[in-house]
Amino acid sequence: IYQIEYYQEAIFIMKEQVIELIAAAADLDMETVTGILEIPPRADMGDYAFPCFQLAKSLHKAPPLIAADIAEKINKTDIIDKLEVKGAYLNFFLKKEMLVKTMVENASIPNFGTSTLGNGKTICIDYSSPNVAKNFHVGHLRTTIIGNSLYKIYSKLGYQVERINHLGDWGTQFGKLIVAYKAWGNKEAVEKDGVAELMRLYVKFHEEAEKDDSLNDQARDWFTQMEKGNEEALSIWQWFVDISLKEYKGTYALLGMEFDHYLGESFYRDKTADVVKRLQDANLLRESQGAQIVDLEEYNMAPCLIMKKDGSSIYATRDLAAIFYRKATWNFDKCLYVTGQEQKLHFAQVFKVVELLGNEWAKDSLVHIPYGLVSLEGAKLSTRSGNIIYAEDILLEAIDKVKQIILTKNPDLEDKDETAKMVGVGAIIFHDLYNQRIKDVSFKWDKVLNFDGETGPYVQYTYCRCASILRTVSYNENAAIDYNQLLDEEAISLLKEINRFPQVVLDAAEKYEPSVVARFAMDVAQAFSRFYNACRVNVEDESTRNARVKLVSLTKTTLRDALDLLGIRCPEQM
Ligand code: ARG
Repeated sequence: IYQIEYYQEAIFIMKEQVIELIAAAADLDMETVTGILEIPPRADMGDYAFPCFQLAKSLHKAPPLIAADIAEKINKTDIIDKLEVKGAYLNFFLKKEMLVKTMVENASIPNFGTSTLGNGKTICIDYSSPNVAKNFHVGHLRTTIIGNSLYKIYSKLGYQVERINHLGDWGTQFGKLIVAYKAWGNKEAVEKDGVAELMRLYVKFHEEAEKDDSLNDQARDWFTQMEKGNEEALSIWQWFVDISLKEYKGTYALLGMEFDHYLGESFYRDKTADVVKRLQDANLLRESQGAQIVDLEEYNMAPCLIMKKDGSSIYATRDLAAIFYRKATWNFDKCLYVTGQEQKLHFAQVFKVVELLGNEWAKDSLVHIPYGLVSLEGAKLSTRSGNIIYAEDILLEAIDKVKQIILTKNPDLEDKDETAKMVGVGAIIFHDLYNQRIKDVSFKWDKVLNFDGETGPYVQYTYCRCASILRTVSYNENAAIDYNQLLDEEAISLLKEINRFPQVVLDAAEKYEPSVVARFAMDVAQAFSRFYNACRVNVEDESTRNARVKLVSLTKTTLRDALDLLGIRCPEQM
């Protein structure tokens, strides 16, 4: 049943026609018929069934007689193959040829899968957002990949999407870093080793502060200086930000992903006072041990800390400021936050506070999108010093491994480096998005890169097969397609899969779940394999060949568009 409901668009057109036929024959209105018409559980019971129990009362006739009556009066149009009266049911068998024609035409619409649903609406997506002076780790890789895919999916549905990188670039840790840099660092080392050196200094600070508590006071002072706008403090901090951002941008470049806005936490430092004022005016602030909080006990949550004893703002305060800024700037329909599950409470608190300030929209518009953990036990990664794992290294290693495979299996391939990049990075992205985002991901190279398994490379390889067929088989693009040549079970199944695409994009958006698209891409690739094994494309007969090539071409476009929604590019050869 679900399967039939899924290949929506094409079947929808035919369903409408069936409804019209019944309505005319039974003298009923379309809504009534729509309410009664069923999809039978088995294919041998037809594509649609019209049960006549309900009509028995008003017509004072036995249901089987009513069914027979309607059958008699139905106009045999070219969409119906066969009508069958089975007890109280009138079963409709659609003409396979018509079904195939409808599905091919449907999937051939330019930009199949796009929609105007979101026109005029804006979605903000807050994702990636690494912490300055810290490594871009695998968790950040997940939020980046998921956020980017949601951006693609919502754009496909016609939404205006603002991609926002809410860098962790403000907070007391920068006071510590300045102290450490001044005591144990130097310019050359930071320029040379970047984030790795900043992390070393940060660790050093904590070691030393164990022995000497006055370092903590110095750190607090430096952060206060930053908040006050002290030039020296800010210029060192800005340098740390620039150094870090340069590295993060290297990772984004490898992924082929971009942002519309880098608006880190520091951007809101002059906007938190307004948040505090709003809360005061609404009489929501309470004092607790010298700090200012919003009590959320009524909602079974810990209080939301707004201002520390020393008057400095915190993570939550800056998130509140960011929400008001984004609402005022983009008037978003929704603002999505892609972070690990451990921030669930933080966002629940922040969203609640926005709502308590009299903003009803907070309830539906602010959405936290959590994801599971990545475990790297099986990965055997080569790490830089200190066993710290950088997402960039994983990407580079994937690219390198693919390059080795290409060198042994297809040494004559042109553009080996570019292809290795598309496949290596694609493999990581696909692996990340193939399971529901909330599930934990365990990382093993042979699972990520297996060309025969349920992997990115497998889907890309299927795409390349399609491309190769289109390059080598001769066909006439302009000849009318004989749909009778596509009645094989495998061809119909493949068409049904392809025709799910628009619904798949909608489902993925509604659930904030790129895995729906990844699964779809895999289903299409597998259906294509079955079709390709059962139906030779390069056959003598021109009309068969043309029709089958059309199916190859639709598969190719669909795979490309689905992978694009995941952020994966397709090489033409691999
Ligand atoms: N910087 C944070 C982290 O790495 C993520 C920020 C998420 N976005 C936000 N608006 N709080 O965990």
